[in-house]
Amino acid sequence: MTTLERAEAAERAMAEELDRIVVKSAIYTSGERDPRLPVTRPDNGKLVMMGHDPRLPRMPDKPTLFDFFTLRFGPTQHLMQSARLAMKNGVSEKIVMACLVHDIAIAGFIRGDHGYWAAQLVEPYVDEEVGWAIRYHQALRFYADESAGYSYPEMYKKLFGPDYQPDPYIERDYKYACDHKWYMSARQICVNDLYAFDPNVKAELEEFTDIVGRNFKQPKEGLGFDASPSSHMWRTMMWPTKYL
Ligand SMILES: [Fe+2]
Ligand SMILES: [Fe+2]
Repeated sequence: MTTLERAEAAERAMAEELDRIVVKSAIYTSGERDPRLPVTRPDNGKLVMMGHDPRLPRMPDKPTLFDFFTLRFGPTQHLMQSARLAMKNGVSEKIVMACLVHDIAIAGFIRGDHGYWAAQLVEPYVDEEVGWAIRYHQALRFYADESAGYSYPEMYKKLFGPDYQPDPYIERDYKYACDHKWYMSARQICVNDLYAFDPNVKAELEEFTDIVGRNFKQPKEGLGFDASPSSHMWRTMMWPTKYL
């Protein structure tokens, strides 16, 4: 067996231990396996996963943004520390809110084009400017604006190589954002985006309770269960292994 076949066999064995069969969505395995190949699944008479996955902490019936922070997202210190820095720098509450959620797509969902995904997730619940700023931090982060206090991140040279050129769609969106009235809002996310922080300093979610209360319209049905254009995305983070 190849390494990949062994991993898939181990995964099948683990899935068989669950009461329900988990069939991973194409996006979770694409790149590791050719997505065009047929997916084999155990034929053991079990039902497929159609909701809560017992390997994950259970979400409340009416999940809040903070429930996603504590029960689904990966490490969120980066977000909280960026929001804390923004607060320290005296920006508006809207921008603190934007900083707190600017990378939630990475924390809960997907890396590539994370600014666009995060904007889409929160747009129904925040001021239009907050969503806009999150969307365009994606492009602005690749371009320095020394007068605003943002240099091209050293870390990007390490991560992408010194000659990296952003894709044409990023450049297009950067140029569009430059002439927009909310340019500085998106730029402020980049300025307060902490790439390295003291691991001994811990920011707490509670520091932002009031700001979130005033700037994030928590749906009464719970995130995922209202009928907003991004409800299904919150449900995907809640139930990432749902079969259909
Ligand atoms: Fe980001
Ligand atoms: Fe960030």
